[in-house]
Amino acid sequence: MTLAENTPGSSRFPAGRRAFPHRDLLGIAQLARHEILYLLEEAEQWVALNRRAAKHSDALAGLTIINAFFENSTRTLLSFEIAGKRLGADVVNMHAAQSSVKKGETLIDTAMTLNAMRADAIVIRHGSSGAVALIADKVDCPVLNAGDGQHEHPTQALLDALALRHALRERGQAAEDFTGLVVTICGDILHSRVARSNILCLQALGAVVRLCAPPALMPQGVERMGVEVFHDFDAALAGCDVAMMLRLQNERMQGQFIPSAREYHHLYGLTRKRLESRASQALVMHPGPMNRGVEIDSDVADLAGRSIITRQVEMGVAMRMACLDVLTRAERGLPGWKDGEWV
Ligand code: NCD
Repeated sequence: MTLAENTPGSSRFPAGRRAFPHRDLLGIAQLARHEILYLLEEAEQWVALNRRAAKHSDALAGLTIINAFFENSTRTLLSFEIAGKRLGADVVNMHAAQSSVKKGETLIDTAMTLNAMRADAIVIRHGSSGAVALIADKVDCPVLNAGDGQHEHPTQALLDALALRHALRERGQAAEDFTGLVVTICGDILHSRVARSNILCLQALGAVVRLCAPPALMPQGVERMGVEVFHDFDAALAGCDVAMMLRLQNERMQGQFIPSAREYHHLYGLTRKRLESRASQALVMHPGPMNRGVEIDSDVADLAGRSIITRQVEMGVAMRMACLDVLTRAERGLPGWKDGEWV
């Protein structure tokens, strides 16, 4: 469905400007439920395109997209790059290791430089929570958050929702949203922007979210987000529909948070035995990168019909295409949000 077809009475989404009235995609926290559903719907056309032999569209021809990554990334950077290229845009990647950031340039100066190059969209990953919003404030084009510190990773949560929706549809559990679905997120919740964005996204779509981590890796007061908190993985898994496993984010840990990887695996690792005994029908997800043998065993990660980890990667490209398409509509003379107003 395109925005043009989204006329009153013909759709479950608000008409015109209210379908997606944002210039930037900074976090799931800023999105209403119908806006999340709108992006999921928009992504379907790109899922279909990506499954064809000829995967090219000219939708963003002539536009320049800068991927500014101040933190390491494999799949997110590659996914955004492929998404931009499949839409016909000129895509430029800026790696912090090769940039003036290493020479002491401030974040604001980097933002001003990117802005002066007249990019039509900037995708940013940064190690500090809030850094992406700071840059968005200083530039004139749409900004997409590709992960900021421990704060949010909105496209990851959106692609996870898209992958889950497809997997449920294949099981004959097709539904508008995830009402009643029980999702257990287990791992290093404290340092995870993926967990935070997913809690918000899954709840907006009606799911019940259980969090499981050792006490040291569970954010204090997280129950205020309306989640169920567990420290016993077997209890958290019991009867869940989805087990979403997260990596230990060692690079964000200052000090010792767990006694050893071996002990962590014993208590919180997803083994085949644990999965079959506690949640024999559950789908298995992981945003990557995986540490096989720590938070997840290989025979679970690769379990046909249950693990949708590679599906998540596939859906990542389609979802990022949808986000780039929707957010650059004003740049392309289509109805959209530009310079603080609807044009
Ligand atoms: C995640 C991230 O960078 O936040 N990875 C990703 O984007 N797929 C999760 C992680 O690094 O563990």
